[in-house]
Amino acid sequence: MKNVLVTGGAGYIGSHACKALKQAGFTPVTYDSLVTGWEDAVKFGPFEKGDLLDRARLDAVFAQYKPVAVMHFAALSQVGESMKIPALYWKNNVMGSLNLIEATAEAGVTNFVFSSTCATYGEHDNVVLNEMTEQLPINAYGASKRAVEDILDNFGAAHGMNSVIFRYFNVAGGDPEGEVGEHHRPETHLIPIMLEAIDGKRPALTIFGTDYDTPDGTCIRDYVHVCDLVDAHVLGLQWLLDGKGSRVFNLGTGDGFSVREVIDQSRAVTNKSVPYEEGPRRAGDCTKLVSGSTRAEAELGWMPTRSTMKQMIEDAWNWHRTGHYDK
Ligand code: UFG
Repeated sequence: MKNVLVTGGAGYIGSHACKALKQAGFTPVTYDSLVTGWEDAVKFGPFEKGDLLDRARLDAVFAQYKPVAVMHFAALSQVGESMKIPALYWKNNVMGSLNLIEATAEAGVTNFVFSSTCATYGEHDNVVLNEMTEQLPINAYGASKRAVEDILDNFGAAHGMNSVIFRYFNVAGGDPEGEVGEHHRPETHLIPIMLEAIDGKRPALTIFGTDYDTPDGTCIRDYVHVCDLVDAHVLGLQWLLDGKGSRVFNLGTGDGFSVREVIDQSRAVTNKSVPYEEGPRRAGDCTKLVSGSTRAEAELGWMPTRSTMKQMIEDAWNWHRTGHYDK
């Protein structure tokens, strides 16, 4: 069996990736500090508790499992928090990643899959973003991810590190079999917050800003189903193992949904009213982030199958109703 070291494997996207890796015949070895992850989400391979900043622990895990590749999900990922406490993002996301990348190179592992983000692009008026779009992040989260992309580029040139970098748009939905799902504490993402409001677990959703330059005044995002997203990671891993070299791919669907449109669709899927109020803008939010994923489709053969808004909300709603949020 081929081991893949999955940092953040106890988190939302990482746990879904572990399931997909196992189904593809790999053994996912989760490395996670459990600061934001959940041990009960580690179901598909061994678990090693550790922090990215703990180099000795990383070296020991590399020596024990001899992975063929690293998939690096572990990161702080809240845009709003990154504007309030940027040091957290530079320390965890940049210094932590540098430590991991250095340990990876010194262990002789040259295949690295990295979770980056469309937040690295920043504001580009009414443009469908592609991988060549200039990266001008407007928040510390996006800046921290762009910095890690640069580190990987440098390690590629200096040490032969091959990386597949995925720039995600907004990830939503959950495992259709309900084995894992989205669970953040505190929750900050639109769809789970909305489902909590629908279910009476919070008084209301607050719409962050209704004066954006969009048709209904609310921000527009491109939502992609977590299962489609992790399928792309398995394809990206295979790309590296086939020796195809470093490449960047956007992962989105090309369809933009405003906050109000997501509310309307949630009402339709759950058949319940959505309590909401209108509030001010959240610092760091871009007006519109929409991607084409033609490169991932053309080069990786990626074919999203669950990324309709209806399906994403349905899967998230089914997971929500399992009660994992109530633990
Ligand atoms: N929103 C609200 N109210 C809320 C939460 C969110 O109106 O309570 C709005 C936001 O302002 C934004 C949209 O819903 O316009 C989506 O917000 P999320 O917090 O769900 O997602 P973000 O777009 O801020 O960020 C997410 C991930 C990042 C990733 C980014 C890419 O958290 O890691 O998507 O767009 F980089």
